[in-house]
Amino acid sequence: MASDKTIVFITGANSGIGLETVVALSQASADFHILLGARSIEKGEKALSEIRSISHPAGPLKGTISVVQVDVSDEKSIRAVTEHIESTYGRVDVLINNAGIIVTRPCDTLTNLRETFETNVFGPMLLTEVLEPLLKKSTKTPYIIHVSSEQGSMALRLDPDYKFKHVRGDTYRMSKAAVNMMAACHKYNYAELGWKICAFNPGFCVTNLTGAKGREMRIQAGARPARDAADALVEVVQGKRDGDVAKSGIVDLDGGLQPW
Ligand SMILES: NC(=O)c1ccc[n+]([C@@H]2O[C@H](COP(=O)([O-])OP(=O)(O)OC[C@H]3O[C@@H](n4cnc5c(N)ncnc54)[C@H](OP(=O)(O)O)[C@@H]3O)[C@@H](O)[C@H]2O)c1
Repeated sequence: MASDKTIVFITGANSGIGLETVVALSQASADFHILLGARSIEKGEKALSEIRSISHPAGPLKGTISVVQVDVSDEKSIRAVTEHIESTYGRVDVLINNAGIIVTRPCDTLTNLRETFETNVFGPMLLTEVLEPLLKKSTKTPYIIHVSSEQGSMALRLDPDYKFKHVRGDTYRMSKAAVNMMAACHKYNYAELGWKICAFNPGFCVTNLTGAKGREMRIQAGARPARDAADALVEVVQGKRDGDVAKSGIVDLDGGLQPW
């Protein structure tokens, strides 16, 4: 019964880090019920049937998984998925705001900024706000994990020794800086309730974030498997990173923190 389990809702979970996190959480424990968020039910079901059809070196899927539709750039979709979760499960124990984009097609700066912020910032802010009553109904201590990026770190942006300093990505960096501030505000706002909240840096991973060509570029550039980020996210959810989560900074996949 999902009602006894830890309900984990992951947005953008039909691909990349989100999907790997679904797999890693399900392998970690039968006590998880994972809500695999996808922009369309079809995409979500396709991803779910794919992970169910292969054998996983790290062990079988144990935690149960359901697909839910959520487009974080669409307010109606955010409200609809919240109603669905409320009527089906009554609460959320863990929210992983993972959905994110990098706009790679050529477009003017304002278009790029608006699209990037709609998905990376406005969506997770609204979703967290709308889900707050369901997080309050958690029978455990809720976690809110905002999948951010060290690319949003202001300290690293101006660090002459930072290895990715030559990567421009101004609009994406700005959006993740906003995600970091959102996480800081949520840490402050929910401190009295004892909720565990962090911004999380998944590192440079092989995913679909920059399209098919970008995926190849990532492989050539030695990016890490998305599973590394997923394993670290599981540790956060399991409380193994609570020491870092309690501190001020971006929780890093390799342990410790990156600066805001
Ligand atoms: N990969 C890296 O190196 C890296 C580094 C730092 C941070 N991150 C962050 O990690 C997170 C996951 O990205 P990823 O690397 O795993 O990329 P990915 O493979 O492209 O996965 C992104 C997921 O977000 C979904 N998504 C995009 N827009 C959405 C929307 N409006 N509503 C709901 N879902 C939406 C995508 O759905 P569709 O399949 O429908 O497009 C996909 O499922 C992002 O927040 C990203 O910024 C990644």
